[in-house]
Amino acid sequence: MAKKEIVMSGIRPTGFLHLGNYFGAMRNYVRMQEDFDCYFMVADLHSLTTHPDTKELRNNVKRVFAENIACGLDPQKVALYCQSHIVETSELYLYLNMMAYKGELEKTTTFKDKVRLQPDNVNAGLLTYPVLQTADIILHRAKYVPVGKDQEQHLEMARNFANRFNHRYGEVFPEPVAFNFGQDLIKVPSLDGAGKMSKSENQNATLYLADENDVIRKKVMKAKTDSGPTEPNMPKPDYIENIFNLMKLVCAPDVIAKFEADYNGCTIRYGDLKKQLAEDMVQFISPIREKAQQIMNDENYLKQIMEMGAEKARASATTTMARVRNALGLNYF
Ligand code: TYM
Repeated sequence: MAKKEIVMSGIRPTGFLHLGNYFGAMRNYVRMQEDFDCYFMVADLHSLTTHPDTKELRNNVKRVFAENIACGLDPQKVALYCQSHIVETSELYLYLNMMAYKGELEKTTTFKDKVRLQPDNVNAGLLTYPVLQTADIILHRAKYVPVGKDQEQHLEMARNFANRFNHRYGEVFPEPVAFNFGQDLIKVPSLDGAGKMSKSENQNATLYLADENDVIRKKVMKAKTDSGPTEPNMPKPDYIENIFNLMKLVCAPDVIAKFEADYNGCTIRYGDLKKQLAEDMVQFISPIREKAQQIMNDENYLKQIMEMGAEKARASATTTMARVRNALGLNYF
């Protein structure tokens, strides 16, 4: 049997997971688990760059595990693990840091954003965040990395670092590429259209996988609209386009077509549009929320899954690191 291609991705445990995480990343994980050799991890080390207080960490890590499984990830089929459990990640991160230049790291968009957001905590981990992410990926010699649009630049940097290593020390790593089924990488917009859904910012305009049904309804009904189109077939304002884009994620095509026709014919009622979206969101989110809650209540199961995932990830990490040390010339006899 042909060897399966390798896939790797990660999610930071910095808050509740949302629709952006689902459609940008987790949906792809679930689709890839049958045909690829998959490594999916909870990036607890990365979270320390922005969340030095670790009071919430334990719960957040468990929730990311539970929500991934609730979304359909099968921990028997993939390696679902915690970043800090694989110490080889930190070793590879150290080697890669010798190949990453201050100038290129300072130019990273996410770094510049974080500097703005937390001017009192511009730590070295924040600067070398993309180096650690590269270590996560190439530790398993992964080729495909399912991520949302916001991770595009990090993936470009991962390719640069992997290539730099290969040129300097010999071919060890494949070039990793960002992956999404179908078309381009996805960005799920926030309900107010001002930015994207996010774990920690813009919480009233983000739909979380743990939101109760009435919270979902309330958030959707608050989405910005206006008094409606004034002439047939006019272009949609951004905030209306935004609602239609969110509908495409969860509503049936014929339902969307009906509202499109209503819009073009100037008969659309935005109250009905939002009610439809709210109910379809409830239908989509509530089974995930309920399943995740059940899993969260089963500590033994979670512990077992976490250990099993770490074991699988460690096996792959050990093999790669033997090659890396060899290539680097760190074997003296
Ligand atoms: P994080 O935790 O911010 O997000 C996890 C995944 O969700 C995607 N995502 C979105 N996609 C579409 N629309 C949105 N509004 C949206 N918000 C988030 C992200 O693109 C990501 O795929 N640096 C990574 C974590 C990481 C990682 C890795 C990823 C650490 N090591 C190795 C891939 C490979 C991050 O902060 O993701």
